[in-house]
This record gives sequence, structure tokens and C-alpha cells, in this order.
Amino acid sequence: MSLMSSASAPGKVILFGEHAVVYGQPALAVPVMQVQAQVFVEEGAGAGVWIEAMDIGLESELSALPAKHPLAAVIRSVAHSLDVSCLPPLKIRIQSSIPAASGLGSGAAVSVALIRALAQALGQPLPDAQVNALAYEAEKLYHGTPSGIDNTVVTYARPVYFIKGQPIETFQVRTPFTIVIGDTGVAASTREPVGDVRKLWQADPPRWERVFEAVGAIVRQARQAIEEGNVEALGPLMDANHARLQEMTVSSPELERLVRAARSAGALGAKLSGGGRGGNMLALAGRETEVRVAAALKAAGARRVLATTVCS
Ligand code: PMV
Repeated sequence: MSLMSSASAPGKVILFGEHAVVYGQPALAVPVMQVQAQVFVEEGAGAGVWIEAMDIGLESELSALPAKHPLAAVIRSVAHSLDVSCLPPLKIRIQSSIPAASGLGSGAAVSVALIRALAQALGQPLPDAQVNALAYEAEKLYHGTPSGIDNTVVTYARPVYFIKGQPIETFQVRTPFTIVIGDTGVAASTREPVGDVRKLWQADPPRWERVFEAVGAIVRQARQAIEEGNVEALGPLMDANHARLQEMTVSSPELERLVRAARSAGALGAKLSGGGRGGNMLALAGRETEVRVAAALKAAGARRVLATTVCS
């Protein structure tokens, strides 16, 4: 079978502003290039489109998947937007080193890589803006009411200052800094905490809008600190953002254990990242504390620890 095309997309981590971003506040997110989703499109042997995603134990004909299955929906939406009414026989192989349901953007990265590889195989590569728009539609199937931050940072693979519904804005990192990302190993869907925060907000909009605005203020200060190279200021801002996320009820005992371990090991600040209730947390480490923070996270039960340097 011959390869027609392939594409990859990175993971991502939200530095500041998750959840409040769904309600129009800004958020900061960066790509995590050490983990990637990859998609290979080959000429198919028989009729139809065969999909293999061994990481999630999926081997299926496209026609056998429910219409709302995110992979099926992405493939059909690419065909539709390229005006291809009948797909040729294809074999699509999907693999990813981004842990699923962990707040590292695995769903968005698979969608972006799949959209790019399929469009390329059909002879009509798509511009980033269109890849992003199609990946956003797929995010709705994963999450319900996504802000669009995941698909945006994964599509453009750049640091993003994101406000829902607004054109992509990147930010400058004056002094590169290192974050250590610790995985609780607890799989957590984004849909559930996002839905729970919505219920809180619906029960008392003025109270929660004040909380979301407080998060927005933290995000704006963090952006300014990053652009001025004032890395020390970011630690307390992470802690303050984490406190707001606790208030939104999206932390968990496992996240709390890792956040505490990172702070005790000398991290300048720490917070959960992404939807919460499990998944990943992140800690800001100086050059001399990075190894100590990573070891403390492992000792506190982190399933996997990644360090990534944030730069422009
Ligand atoms: O996909 P996750 O777990 O990183 O969460 C996305 C961030 C949220 O703000 C919780 C939801 C959203 O759509 O922005």
C-alpha cells in the first residue's frame, strides 16, 4: 500500500485561564512539541475507508462508525468542505503519544492532523484557518461547548492569547521559562467539569461572572509578565489561578497532591491545567529546581512528567 500523505500536530497546555475562557475571558496556551498526534493516509486495498487507531483500540470501516463519532465526523466534514461526494478507498492510520483525556489536547491534535493529512491526500491541502474551523466543529463533539482554545493552539503550534470568537493573537516570550507538567494518571473528560461549571454559573450568574473576571485579570497580568520577562511574577499568578479553579470545583485530590508536592519542592507556582478533575497539572520551575520538582511529582504519584520550555 502506498502512502499518499501524512501530518502531525503537537499537544498543548493551558498556562492560565481555562474554564473562564468559555465565558469570554482570555486564556494563555502553548504547544507541547514533545508529544504529537500523527496521521498516515494510504491507498486502500478494498472499497471504502478503513480507520486504524490502535491507541484507542479502534479498527473499523468508516461506514460502521456512528455519525457522531468524532473521527467519522472529521472525515466527513473534510470531504464535505472539499466537495468530495465519494471518498476513494483509503486506509487511515492514527497514532498519538499525547495521553487521552488528560488536558493535553489529544482530541484536537488528532483532529488537526487528520484534517491536514486527508485534505492533502485528496489533493486539496487546506489553509490553517480552515483546518482550525473544522477542528473546532470536532471539538464540539468531544466537549459540548468548547471555547476553541485547544484547536487554535494545536493548529498554529504557537503561544496563543486566546479570546473566544476573536482572531488568533500570539504573545512574545521575553525570557524563556520552564514548566514541569505532571499527569495524575486519572482520565478525565472535559465535558463533565465544563458542564458542572456551567451549572454553577446558571445558578448564580453574577457570582461566577466575578470569578471569571478575576481569572481574566490574572491572565492579562500573566501575559504582561511573560512579555516583560518577569518570570518570578508568574508563580503567584499560577497559585491565584489555581485557587479560582478550586472554587469552580474542578480540582481533585490527585491534582491537589501534585500541586502541593511541586510547591514544597520549590516550584515558583503550580496549578491544574485544562478541564481538571484529573489529567495534568503544571508547575513553574527555575533552572535549579526543575529536576527536584520533577522528582517530587513522581514521588507524589505522577504517572508521567514532562518538562517543556516556553519560548516565542
Ligand atoms: O481539553 P482540556 O481538558 O485542556 O480543557 C479545555 C479547556 C476548557 O477551558 C476547560 C474548556 C474549553 O473549551 O476552553
